[in-house]
Amino acid sequence: MAYKISKVHGREILDSRGNPTIEVEMTLADGSWGRAMVPSGASTGEHEALELRDEDPKRFLGKGTLKAVKNVNESLSRLLEGKSFENIHQLDRVTLEADGTPQKGKFGANAILGVSLAFVHAVAAYQKRPLFLVVNEMLGLSDKDLKMPVPLMNILNGGLHANNGLEIQEFMIVPHGFETFGEALRSGCEVFQYLKKKLHDLHLSTAVGDEGGFAPTLKNNEQALEIISEVIQKAGYQLGEQISLALDVAASSFFDKGTQQYSLNYSGKKQITKDALMTYYEELLEKYPLVSIEDGLDENDWTGWKQLTDKMGKRLQLVGDDLFVTQPKRVAKGIAEKIANSVLIKVNQVGTLSETFDTMLECRANGYTAVASHRSGETEDITIAHLAVGSGCGQIKTGSVSRSERTAKYNELLRIEEWAKSNHKKISYENIFKR
Ligand code: PGA
Ligand code: ZN
Repeated sequence: MAYKISKVHGREILDSRGNPTIEVEMTLADGSWGRAMVPSGASTGEHEALELRDEDPKRFLGKGTLKAVKNVNESLSRLLEGKSFENIHQLDRVTLEADGTPQKGKFGANAILGVSLAFVHAVAAYQKRPLFLVVNEMLGLSDKDLKMPVPLMNILNGGLHANNGLEIQEFMIVPHGFETFGEALRSGCEVFQYLKKKLHDLHLSTAVGDEGGFAPTLKNNEQALEIISEVIQKAGYQLGEQISLALDVAASSFFDKGTQQYSLNYSGKKQITKDALMTYYEELLEKYPLVSIEDGLDENDWTGWKQLTDKMGKRLQLVGDDLFVTQPKRVAKGIAEKIANSVLIKVNQVGTLSETFDTMLECRANGYTAVASHRSGETEDITIAHLAVGSGCGQIKTGSVSRSERTAKYNELLRIEEWAKSNHKKISYENIFKR
């Protein structure tokens, strides 16, 4: 079966921070139609695919996306309109060859990704099937691989996503000990409300950061973990058994290249070595039921990452985000050298859906977990909910339960879970962090 493209159209829209991004609409010859919006990060990895911005200071402080939109509406639409493609790999190959640069710098990864995602939405419309089934098939997987993901919910924000002095970027709760996604999500919402009340009682701010988590000014990272542990239990859940904790340290964002040290307050020092940082993680692990740490060290420190994996990789999930930037080649290096044991999957870090699939399949074949992820700058696009279910990767990271660009993904997962039930399809919610 080949899908003939009749129209490709891009436009500039807004992301959740009020910065411009692009969306792409694609129409097939029979009139089937799909639309996708492209997200944008703040703590971006050095090795990410290139996000093309106009750099014109007169528009959106240089962040305009008219060049990327033009590339969609002129070069890419000329390339694709009237042509037929059997699958996403074929389509992406054509746009990548025409781009011809390693980082997708000619058209921009935002333009290329918008087209790639819009295609699968159009195919799902053509097939009159939910997108996750199309994703599942395009990945070469079967119905048996479908899974509802465990959410890694970022309920307290620090780092570059807030301005509260906490070095660690994301403090997440992981509601794994539940029978369904819906129950897990509800527990997370209840904890979120208890957290709000607790912060209010402590006379701390309950304003939220970029990913919808609270961003109070606290003494240190441990106080955040302490408060979260307390409110999980206050909400009536068993800490560690039902709901565990996870961190995205985003260590590259406070790594000082000059001194080769990390700017994190620990044992009376303001800058610490990587060895001290690893000792700090071990201390946290003793005290709190942490199941996952993302970007624990700088994105270029493969040697440090190897040490970190040797030390802690058996005890918890070590996720590479800035380290791997979703790129099959970097993940292959990690696998070959037994570095980290999990990969954060962000479609715009690599810039096409087919390369995202390659990375996910590589993880699957090598015993690495994969976590489907949003960006801090998001839209109401829900593709990643379908990516998580269709790939059966088992985890999704899509922020807190406030701000509609975050809840859009959760709401789509609720719809998918209901769809499965009413269509007698088994899509299980697995307790992947069972103790
Ligand atoms: P970003 O943050 O989208 O700003 O990169 C998310 C993350 O680091 O996981
Ligand atoms: Zn991250």
